[in-house]
Amino acid sequence: MLRIVVCVSGGGTNLQAILDAIDRGKITNTEILAVISNNAGARALTRAESRGIPGFCISPKSFSDREAFNRAFTDKICELNPDLVVLAGFLVRIPEAMVARFSNRIINIHPSLIPSFCGVGYYGLKVHEKVLERGIRVTGATVHFVNEGMDEGPIIAQRAVSVEEEDTPESLQRRVMEQAEWILLPEAIDDIADGRIAVVNNKVRRQ
Ligand code: GAR
Repeated sequence: MLRIVVCVSGGGTNLQAILDAIDRGKITNTEILAVISNNAGARALTRAESRGIPGFCISPKSFSDREAFNRAFTDKICELNPDLVVLAGFLVRIPEAMVARFSNRIINIHPSLIPSFCGVGYYGLKVHEKVLERGIRVTGATVHFVNEGMDEGPIIAQRAVSVEEEDTPESLQRRVMEQAEWILLPEAIDDIADGRIAVVNNKVRRQ
């Protein structure tokens, strides 16, 4: 059984996609130990609570400095001791010490085709605003392992999504979620739970 902790910041639609995939048997062999949010008002915490999954809020705002937050966040994850940490719309940088400790055991969903529109300053709706500003025709989403870089870890899977003439950042975000994110993230968790994925020489290999 793969024991996971899901980290969220806001709406939690990717968390919902994971819960739905577990219900429908598309993710097997997986248990959600807890949901952690950096934002007390996150709808994702309500989604967790309604399923009887323990939810915790650990916000940088409650600590005197970033170091103290990083320590508390890492300590909580270590206490829960998951096999895999899933960043499902978690908009806080993962502390380096935690990345080192959970090497190839943290995955993230990003709303673009990495290496486009990623890195510092590219998160949530901002990504789709920049895509529309640039006028590209194809965007998408990427699920990847987290390393010490920003959106630079080994890529697990990607899906392309077309950009339409009349798109707003919101309509594009919704299409990328529906056609890419909510499919990719549950599939990646199931692949990991069933041991179909390994990282070899910093690249993902399917086995
Ligand atoms: C999702 O689009 C996710 O890809 C993005 O935040 C949104 C969260 O939505 N993540 C990032 O931008 C990470 N760099 P959700 O809370 O409804 O799942």
